Amino acid sequence: MKALILAGGAGTRLRPITHTSAKQLVPVANKPILFYGIEAMVSAGITEIGVIVGDTRDEVMAALGDGSQWGATITFIPQDAPLGLAHCVLIASDFLGDDDFVMYLGDNLLEQDLAAFVHAFESQRGSFDPPAAQILLKRVPDPHRFGIAELDAEGNVVRLVEKPADPPTDLALVGVYLFDRTINDAVRAIAPSPRGELEITDAIQWLVDQGRRVRQEELTGWWIDTGKLTPLLEANRLLLEKIETRVDGEVDETSVLDGRVVVEAGANIVNSTLRGPLVIGAGTVIENSFVGPFSAIGNDCRVTHSEIEHSVVMESSTITDIPRLEDSLIGKDVVVTRTQVRPRALRLMVGDHCQIDVE
Ligand code: G1P
Repeated sequence: MKALILAGGAGTRLRPITHTSAKQLVPVANKPILFYGIEAMVSAGITEIGVIVGDTRDEVMAALGDGSQWGATITFIPQDAPLGLAHCVLIASDFLGDDDFVMYLGDNLLEQDLAAFVHAFESQRGSFDPPAAQILLKRVPDPHRFGIAELDAEGNVVRLVEKPADPPTDLALVGVYLFDRTINDAVRAIAPSPRGELEITDAIQWLVDQGRRVRQEELTGWWIDTGKLTPLLEANRLLLEKIETRVDGEVDETSVLDGRVVVEAGANIVNSTLRGPLVIGAGTVIENSFVGPFSAIGNDCRVTHSEIEHSVVMESSTITDIPRLEDSLIGKDVVVTRTQVRPRALRLMVGDHCQIDVE
């Protein structure tokens, strides 16, 4: 069993952050989104991993390296244009060979461990009617935004449609799929969709049309497609819910730590209140400030005379004299400061290397 992780998408819905950074490398709970996918594969026992990369390939390749930090072997597969998820399977054919594989969308985050999902597929390989594919489904309130599955009374997959205007069900296709080698024929047989992409949804429909079995499972834990600000902050919140207190940095005696808090080594908390769940990255200084629940402050940041809550602040950024910053995503190397008193809350999405002076 191999894994094919898709990390080529442009991330247009997370601009301006994604003008300079890959969307799959935006951190949630201080870890790049893409790392959660790699870890999920490795903990399901899959260490031969292909990663599709696009315009942001240099950054993604630098962040993942050869995979040895996870005990995995990573093969990078460049995609010159975002021509669809099924196109990724097409260009990965040398890497995939005739092996079964998990396809994992690099901007998806799942609560659930995937070992049982992988095992279910493998255990049916020798059966009378082995599945050619296995999909994960989740009921969603906005099915027109996803690939949607229709099942018969026995729970068999009978039809799949990509982002239907009039969705037949609310069962969305989660961005984790399992395939046997038949998918290689499927991606060659289908034509591009109206949005000009080779859709994996259409390739799976082709398998159904060929009489092949597509097994489905409904996901019980949470699932987030992190491509936009609100789901990204939600993923950050859900992951911070699971942290355990660990204080490796310095906290002076005038500071107060409340709830579950992670303070990484080399961080310095001075005369401040930290109310968890939250994480403070290595080398970061928090001074005369309040950092509230569901905040993830990256490495080497500086927060002075400010209040931050429910926000992601990426590495090397400086927040000074801001009375309240909430529901925000702040890029790398950003300076947010204020020259006059104005007691208003700020809600910001700021790209890398910016300077914001609030007057
Ligand atoms: C893709 C798939 C869609 C699936 C979704 C899950 O959509 O095409 O079927 O439900 O991922 O995240 P996209 O992110 O390309 O809009």
